[in-house]
Amino acid sequence: MVRTSPRINHGRQAIAGRPGLRQTGSLLVCSRTIDTTARRSVCLNAERNPLIVADHVSRRYDDGNVLALDDVSLTIDLGEYVAIMGPSGSGKSTLLNMLGGLDQPTAGRVLFDGKEILTPQALDALRSRKIGYVFQSFYLLPTLTAVENVQLPMFETPRTARQRLARATELLEIVGMSHRSRHLPSRLSVGERQRVAIARSLANEPQVLLADEPTGNLDTQTGEEILRLFSSLHQDHAMTLVIITHSREVAERAQRMVELRDGRICRDEPTRAAPL
Ligand SMILES: Nc1ncnc2c1ncn2[C@@H]1O[C@H](COP(=O)(O)OP(=O)(O)O)[C@@H](O)[C@H]1O
Ligand SMILES: [Mg+2]
Repeated sequence: MVRTSPRINHGRQAIAGRPGLRQTGSLLVCSRTIDTTARRSVCLNAERNPLIVADHVSRRYDDGNVLALDDVSLTIDLGEYVAIMGPSGSGKSTLLNMLGGLDQPTAGRVLFDGKEILTPQALDALRSRKIGYVFQSFYLLPTLTAVENVQLPMFETPRTARQRLARATELLEIVGMSHRSRHLPSRLSVGERQRVAIARSLANEPQVLLADEPTGNLDTQTGEEILRLFSSLHQDHAMTLVIITHSREVAERAQRMVELRDGRICRDEPTRAAPL
């Protein structure tokens, strides 16, 4: 049985009649996992379905003077919700950038869906179509409204203007922001901006959402709302999530906690939220 919130049911109405999206028993965010059967198989196979593999990855900066990542191997499985923790400077952002193809290792390799992404074109396609990024500073364009900001990544796809608008409207519905769709970022609260940024990261139906301290700039209550949204994306929409956090409490909301120290993984274990 797929759990859906009333908000998401509204979203379902919004997609009525759109080709490729099914209404009954459907999930909205990731069209690759749109029906219940697909979602179930994702859950069942989660542990044996590697999505991103970091294979002995190292990253040096400053002509080799800084070793930010030191021989890190890590597998993120399809459907997992993973938190990356560690002190400031331990290499968390560097690792996330590697997992998301935003930066390249100086040694080792990163595989996405079993393949090493080598050409700039393949890397661009990966970044714009398969991975959603959420940053601590949301990087919304100040002169565009919420609904326009959400549409931005869709310009890299063959969607028509009408399709872009429909998709952006649906995503704002999912993140609970449809009532603010015509607002500029300056007229949104910090938490609302983060919601819009999350909606934008989902624009092209990514397989995985990578978030670098997504609650770092938020007060406790707003942070809690964003964490609930992540849990809903994970549970109701079968999203794979990797989030960086300083907070153990936040990390406990994920299924698995990976801890970095001096560029190395010092801990990798299930949390209390992990399925038995
Ligand atoms: N572009 C860069 N040039 C030089 N050093 C960097 C760069 N980015 C990060 N570093 C260094 O790499 C180490 C890890 O950084 P980072 O991955 O940002 O850590 P974290 O996200 O855990 O705070 C730090 O010592 C940092 O100063
Ligand atoms: Mg960082």
